[in-house]
Amino acid sequence: MKKLYLGIETSCDDTSVALVFEDGEVLFSRAANQDLEHSPYGGIVPEIASRNHSMNLLPLIDQALQESNIQWSNISGIAVTNRPGLIGALIVGLVTAKSLSQCYKIPFLGVSHLEGHLLAPFLKDTGYKAPENFTYPYIGLAISGGHTSLYDIRGLGEYYLLGETKDDAAGEAFDKFAKNIGLGFPGGVKIDQISRSGNIHAFSFPRSQVSSSPYAMSFSGLKSAGARLVQELGQELVQKNLADLCASYQEAIVDMLVEKLDYAMTHTGYKRAIVTGGVSANFRLREQLDVWAKKKQLQFLIPPLRYCTDNAAMIAYAGALRMNRGEFSPLNLAPYPQSIAGDLR
Ligand code: KG4
Ligand code: ZN
Repeated sequence: MKKLYLGIETSCDDTSVALVFEDGEVLFSRAANQDLEHSPYGGIVPEIASRNHSMNLLPLIDQALQESNIQWSNISGIAVTNRPGLIGALIVGLVTAKSLSQCYKIPFLGVSHLEGHLLAPFLKDTGYKAPENFTYPYIGLAISGGHTSLYDIRGLGEYYLLGETKDDAAGEAFDKFAKNIGLGFPGGVKIDQISRSGNIHAFSFPRSQVSSSPYAMSFSGLKSAGARLVQELGQELVQKNLADLCASYQEAIVDMLVEKLDYAMTHTGYKRAIVTGGVSANFRLREQLDVWAKKKQLQFLIPPLRYCTDNAAMIAYAGALRMNRGEFSPLNLAPYPQSIAGDLR
């Protein structure tokens, strides 16, 4: 019998719950989205996120067990994101996991949200499965609202940071530009959709290089160039050229990401790569990565959209792998807004 793990993810604005077997097979994965609650404010309001987590989490856990016909006695461990994230949001998930652990005598483990993203490409369900021969070592590119990081990955927990963004994350660059052009929040997915009918060459945006490290990235120059152009054009012209603006801006982000990944592959000599995190849901990025991997004859893995953005299945799986090797958390485990010392960041 395969062991089954419960995953809880409340690090940001999605309340997510999942049931995942120890081999990564997803039995249940669902998120209560809070976009409607945050969009009037143009961004995530931490207090609103915490309040919604506290309303949504227990009903979601109930749904997971009932719809999957699972008893508490069938669950071998509870994995919960305890870092990094919004502190109030993390507390809701962590305190819930501890309470359930005490109540049902099930061990629990605090998991790094980033490790979850790095393991998301290895989840499986009826519609997706990574090839069996995809093994360590490989390069990992994690791109989300808070991170843009390149890792040399040599095993579970063996993540060596090669480089990261020096300023904004790729997701932030998407979201800020979306806000500037009136698309509201969250903007990444809207830019993705609108740009499909746009011309990538219509406007020219910078592709920044960081002189201090060939692996480092920077998106603040692009963000500023986007804001300047919007000001120069004025809202009327912006709206007229919306698709072209989105396509050209998006192309700059895609180019920078593909170039960094290509550099990492060339200089490590690795033949396998994964790309993960919310921005990896981007259609154009996926398209360009596909072209690049085929041209370079690399084995390349990207999760299906449902596991790109924040989800509890990736947390359950990260927890499952670690709890299977005997790692558990004590009841006084703290939540951390940032990655902790010795942790991947
Ligand atoms: O991994 P994620 O769900 O949460 C964090 O850990 O931050 O990533 C969220 C980020 C946001 O910036 C969002 O705009 C971006 O991922 N994102 C996208 C797309 N879907 C989500 N960016 C570009 N294209 C998308 N389709
Ligand atoms: Zn995330």
